[in-house]
Amino acid sequence: MAIRQIITAPDIRLKQVSEQVDAVDDDLRALMDDMLETMYAAPGVGLAAIQIGISQRIIVMDLARDEEPPAPRYFINPEILEASEELVIYEEGCLSVPEMYDEVERPNKVRIRYLDYHGNPQEHECEEFLATCIQHEMDHLEGILFIDHLSKLKRNMILRKLQKAKRGQGETQPA
Ligand code: NI
Repeated sequence: MAIRQIITAPDIRLKQVSEQVDAVDDDLRALMDDMLETMYAAPGVGLAAIQIGISQRIIVMDLARDEEPPAPRYFINPEILEASEELVIYEEGCLSVPEMYDEVERPNKVRIRYLDYHGNPQEHECEEFLATCIQHEMDHLEGILFIDHLSKLKRNMILRKLQKAKRGQGETQPA
């Protein structure tokens, strides 16, 4: 396993729409293992493949609390089958939007279909924080960040701060 570099905004790569995964094989599982290790090291609770520059529809997640044993989850080619009308607000953050948090409103329940670590089809009803997390990660597959749900004013303020932080680290800005 290896820790990969996480891409941070603003970066054009994060706006890509990710592609469907054709086959869940050992190469893909090795990639998911790397994603999980990268997420744990960050540390974070969710990571989409595009955040390490791979535009495939893959998400890893672990919502276990510190005192609980690890509970990794893997979602390949996830689709939302149904979303509740009832909405809920959580404060969100993102490994690609470091140290920035804001409230986002999303459906409180979603029923999803996806392939698991072994490539088996699964359906799952997600609620509350899990529902928010899966929707946040699925947004990444469409090139959407949580800051895209905020007002233009707030988004631009956050992007300017991130840009400034990047310049401070001497990172070159991709076109
Ligand atoms: Ni994110």
